[in-house]
Amino acid sequence: MCGIVAYIGPKEAYPILIKGLQRLEYRGYDSAGVALANGQLMVYKKKGKVQELIDFAEELPKSSTVGIGHTRWATHGVPNDVNAHPHTSGNSQLTIVHNGIIENYALLKEALEKEGHVFTSDTDTEVLIHFIEEIQEKDQLPLEEAVRIALTRVVGAYAIVVLDKRNPNKLVAARKASPLVVGIGEGEYFLASDATPMIEYTNKVIYINDNEIVSIDRYNGIQVKTVNNEVQTPTIHEIDMKIENLEKGGYDYFMLKEIYEQPKTISDCMRGRLNKEDGWIHLGGLEEYSNRIVNAQRFIIAACGTSWHAGLIGEYLFEELARIPVEVEYASELRYRNPIITDKDVIIAISQSGETADTLAALELSRERGALNYGIVNSVGSSIARMTDAGSYIHAGPEIGVASTKAFTGQVTLLTMMALSIGHKRGTISESQYRQYITELANIPAKVEEVLKTNDHIKYIAAEIQDKPNALYLGRGYNFPVALEGALKLKEISYIHAEGYPAAEMKHGPIALIDEEMPVIVIATNKSAYEKVLSNIQEVKARKGYVIAIVTKGDSEISQVADATIEIPETMEPFTPLLSVIPLQLLSYHIAIMRECNVDQPRNLAKSVTVE
Ligand code: G6P
Repeated sequence: MCGIVAYIGPKEAYPILIKGLQRLEYRGYDSAGVALANGQLMVYKKKGKVQELIDFAEELPKSSTVGIGHTRWATHGVPNDVNAHPHTSGNSQLTIVHNGIIENYALLKEALEKEGHVFTSDTDTEVLIHFIEEIQEKDQLPLEEAVRIALTRVVGAYAIVVLDKRNPNKLVAARKASPLVVGIGEGEYFLASDATPMIEYTNKVIYINDNEIVSIDRYNGIQVKTVNNEVQTPTIHEIDMKIENLEKGGYDYFMLKEIYEQPKTISDCMRGRLNKEDGWIHLGGLEEYSNRIVNAQRFIIAACGTSWHAGLIGEYLFEELARIPVEVEYASELRYRNPIITDKDVIIAISQSGETADTLAALELSRERGALNYGIVNSVGSSIARMTDAGSYIHAGPEIGVASTKAFTGQVTLLTMMALSIGHKRGTISESQYRQYITELANIPAKVEEVLKTNDHIKYIAAEIQDKPNALYLGRGYNFPVALEGALKLKEISYIHAEGYPAAEMKHGPIALIDEEMPVIVIATNKSAYEKVLSNIQEVKARKGYVIAIVTKGDSEISQVADATIEIPETMEPFTPLLSVIPLQLLSYHIAIMRECNVDQPRNLAKSVTVE
C-alpha cells in the first residue's frame, strides 16, 4: 500500500525516482508524485499512474541530486492531485512522502489549526508534515530531531521520508509497521518500500526496523536512531535480485509471465530441499525447530487473500499427511478476537509480500501468547521473514502482478513439503508412501508445463463466457480452496462477480442462482469424490447452467456432460491444486484481457496491504 522512494547522491534524482516508482506501482496507483530540491523546492504530483506524472512533468524543471517520490493507494481522501504525495509543510520548506496511516491525525490537526496551520488536502500525511514543522520551528531543531519528537506523539503506522528545502544534503526517514529499505551505493543512497528501485545501483541494503529513524547525509553517511533517541548499529545485507525478474520479458503483462514461470518457480521452491533419488525432504527452518513443530498440539495458519487460500490447502495437507489439527484464520479476524493460543501451538503465517499488516499483527499476538511463529514468505528480508522464529522462503522471485499466481503455487509447494516432512517424522506416513509422494512432487513442474500447453483452448473457453456478469466455482476436498482461488482471480482482475463454493454446498444456496447465464466452473479431478462431483454437475446441467469442468486427462464421463472441459495430467490427490489452479489463472487472465482490463493493476487493489 503506497510505495515510497528517495535518492541522494551525485546523479540526477528524477529519472531514478520515476523508475523506482514504476517498480513500486504494484503497491498503489491512485496517484504519483515527486519532490526535488536544488535551492528551490519542486513538487510535482498527479492523480493516476506514474505515466500521468511523467507526462505532466515533461517540460518542467527537474534538475536535482536529491528527491523523494510516492505512488499512492488512497486511505485518507479521494485520489486526486491535491491529496497526492509529497505533502508540504505550511512554511513550504519541508516535504514528505508517507506510507501508512496516522490514526490520531484528527486530534493533531485540530491542535495545529489552533496554532494557525491551514491544510489544503484531506490527508493524514499533510497533518504529519505540519506537525514536524511546528516542532522544528518552535525550538529551531535539526530535522531529524523534529521528526523524532513528532513520532513520539504519533499513533499509527508509517514509513516516511522527509526532505528539507534548506538542506538538500540530507534525507530523514522513519518506519513503524510499514517497510523501509536503505540502499547503499557508491557515494549515493536510496530509500524505498522494497529493494526493487535500487537493484541496478547496489546490492547492499539495510532493513530499517520499527521505531527507527534514519538520517542520510550526502557527505557524512547514515545514522540510525530509535524514536527514543538510542543510536543503533545497522546491519548491512547483500541481496540477490535480478533485473530480468522485474521486467516483462516479452510478455504483455507480468501476470502472464508469472503464470508461465510456475514450472520454474515450483522447481526453485524444491531445489536443495527435495531429493527424488535419495527420497528426502529437508527444510532448514523446519529442522531448526523440529521438536516443537513435530510435537505441536495444533497449527494455526494465518494469512490474507490468496495466501489464505494456500493456507486452506495447507489444512488438508497437514491433517491428512501429518495428522496435526489445523485451524486456518483470516489474519484480520484472528488479531481482533481473543483466540486461545498457547505455547504448544505453532502459528504459520503465509504471505507473499511479508508485509501484510494484519498478518504481522496476528504474529505479534501469537508471540505474546508463547506460540512458535513460522513464516512462509516470498519477499526476502521482509518484516514477516524477520520477525518470525523460523520459516521458509518460497523462492518465487518478485511477483509484480497484483493478482497472485506463482506465489500461490510456491506457497502450496512449500506447505506440501512441510506436511510430508512432518508426516514422515511423526510416522503418520510410511516410508514407502513418503518416497512415492516425493517422486510425484518432483514431477509436478513438468506437469504444470503440460497444463500451460492448454492455453489456446482456455482462451477459446474464456471467449464463450467473457460477457457473463457472474460465475460460480465449485470444488471438493483439496480443490475447494482452488475453487475459492479461481473465483478470487476472476473478480480481482475482470470485475465479474464470482463465488467459490464446496461443490456439495451448492444445493444449500447458490443453486438458486443457476440458469443459462451462469457459468459454473467445476474442478472435477478428485478420484475420491468423482461420482459425487459428477452428480453436482448433473444438478447444474438440469438447471441449464454452463459447465466448464477441469478434469483428469483421459476422463470420459464428466467430459460428456460438461459444456467444456480442460484436462490436467493425473497426479496424487494432495498435489492436484498445483495443477488445477493453473487453468483457472489462465481463464481469468484471458477473460480480463477480453474485457480490456489492466490485469497487472486492477482497480482499487494493491499488492502489498500494509494498512489494516
Ligand atoms: C493483497 C493482494 C493479494 C494477496 C493478499 C495477501 O490483497 O492483492 O494478491 O493475496 O494481499 O498478501 P500477502 O502478501 O500477505 O500474501
